[in-house]
Amino acid sequence: MTEQTSGDGDGRSSDVHRVDGRIAVVTGASRGIGESTARALDRAGARVVLSGRTVDDLERVAADLTNDPVILPADLAESGAGTELAERALAAVGGVDILVNNAGIPMRRTPDQLTEDDLDLVFAINVRSLLMLTLGLGPSLIERRNGSVINISSIAGLRGPIGRVAYAGTKAAVDGMTRALAADWGPQGVRVNSICPGLIATAIWEESRRTVPGLSESLAEQIPLKRWGHGDDIADVALFLASDASRYLTGETIAVDGGLTRLSTETVRLPEHG
Ligand SMILES: NC(=O)c1ccc[n+]([C@@H]2O[C@H](COP(=O)([O-])OP(=O)(O)OC[C@H]3O[C@@H](n4cnc5c(N)ncnc54)[C@H](OP(=O)(O)O)[C@@H]3O)[C@@H](O)[C@H]2O)c1
Repeated sequence: MTEQTSGDGDGRSSDVHRVDGRIAVVTGASRGIGESTARALDRAGARVVLSGRTVDDLERVAADLTNDPVILPADLAESGAGTELAERALAAVGGVDILVNNAGIPMRRTPDQLTEDDLDLVFAINVRSLLMLTLGLGPSLIERRNGSVINISSIAGLRGPIGRVAYAGTKAAVDGMTRALAADWGPQGVRVNSICPGLIATAIWEESRRTVPGLSESLAEQIPLKRWGHGDDIADVALFLASDASRYLTGETIAVDGGLTRLSTETVRLPEHG
């Protein structure tokens, strides 16, 4: 862990967001938020291990990165996949400083549609593999004394969305595990935080945005900042959490949602006061 002694304008601020020489693992790096995050970490100086199932897309992303990226394909739905990916990552790059647990699936199902198989699948990817990968990299994160784990959760775990009971459960689990692991590993210098993205215009939303008339506009209208988010909106916060700029921040869950979760867009008309 880097001991920081001063925050009084000592000229360090321009470097504090960089992660030069650090090694990062990003799951779900083949597109969307994971792709943006892998690119941001590379630009800030990290060597990035890119994981996902679609090798063509991982290669497309890796081709643009400058710090000797590594591709490790993995299907995180499989039993044992998180542990195995941790072992392969350590064998490939030796040690890890930053882990971005981003891979995830949405599982839109109403209560009457949801099956046990659906539940097993979404928990396997969004929760089980996320935790097992993190635990597998734990000794390395601890040994390197500057570790940062960033879990990509969702505002679904904060708000209670309609028709996504299983997904909301996985993301609430991620936030709970984030706090518990931050408590376990804080004394050893590893920080653990989660980001809850709001409505981010990635492949998860592509079909609905294209086919449901007015959906894109009506949802944007509900967001205080009046626009959908983009991968970079999340990637920049992930980079902040990976870097020493967030060195005193752990166990936190940050909604990056244009204000959707915490702010109201309703105008409440109160009677005039005399
Ligand atoms: N977009 C949003 O509005 C939003 C909002 C809140 C939270 N999130 C969360 O943000 C994260 C990224 O979402 P996104 O919007 O960027 O979605 P996306 O564009 O669909 O990307 C999902 C990523 O996860 C990977 N993935 C999916 N299933 C996998 C599996 N079985 N094994 C390994 N990798 C797998 C995909 O890669 P392959 O297909 O190549 O395997 C892809 O890289 C997810 O955890 C999601 O829950 C998104």
